Amino acid sequence: GALAGVVEYRNVTFAYPGAESPVLSNISFTARPGQTIAIIGSTGAGKTSLLSLLPRLYDPAEGEVLLDGVPVSRMDRADITRRVALVPQRPYLFSGTIEHNLRFGKTEATDQELWEALQVAQGDEFVRAKKNGLGSRISQGGTNVSGGQRQRLCIARALVSRPRVYLFDDSFSALDVATDARLRTALKGITADATVIIVAQRISTITEADQILVLDNGRIVDRGTHQELLETSPTYQEIVES
Ligand code: GTP
Ligand code: MG
Repeated sequence: GALAGVVEYRNVTFAYPGAESPVLSNISFTARPGQTIAIIGSTGAGKTSLLSLLPRLYDPAEGEVLLDGVPVSRMDRADITRRVALVPQRPYLFSGTIEHNLRFGKTEATDQELWEALQVAQGDEFVRAKKNGLGSRISQGGTNVSGGQRQRLCIARALVSRPRVYLFDDSFSALDVATDARLRTALKGITADATVIIVAQRISTITEADQILVLDNGRIVDRGTHQELLETSPTYQEIVES
């Protein structure tokens, strides 16, 4: 339907199993199809933890995470995975060909779709330069490609799965500024109708986001557009100046 991909966090509080204090406190926000929501904050602020609750890597102690109005706690992980693609902060490749890695869970994708995804992810050139192209072998953990290449392949994998919701956890920081900019321009077209949540380190990655959430010590301390936050948020100003 027209609304598919609405993500809502409602008063979410979360502590890791066995931990005494929560890493996320009272998190509330909504991300809608067509929107890009950015999350920024210092290391340890809770950005990765926040993303992990949507695909149910963990379940929150209090509050609810909803996908299209349904609490994810009532959905099975496979159903969520069909609709939500998480590009993790430490992108993971498995032993097999580039094609296997890109098709993961999406066997019906055509070669052309794989190349299109690679093109958007700025990974087509290095794959084309390999003797075996899409058939080139990746070693366990992806140790025979660079960190930036690994990141691009994992972004391409997410694109191939055509989800309603994209979660990018710091996926652009290993790229140089020009590649980051090219990738995000290309991404805009392909994700235009999807819901995009981006965790970022670099301000330039998120200046155009519809809403930026400033996370500090597990709490959303400020929210707004880049321009609004420049004027109202001391925490955001600190991040911009750092
Ligand atoms: P950066 O990726 O470094 O920018 O940090 P982040 O904002 O993504 O923080 P993250 O969500 O990874 O961590 C938030 C807090 O949770 C930190 O204090 C971490 O030490 C803690 N934490 C993260 N993962 C785990 C975990 O698996 N178990 C436990 N017990 N604590 C964790
Ligand atoms: Mg993180």
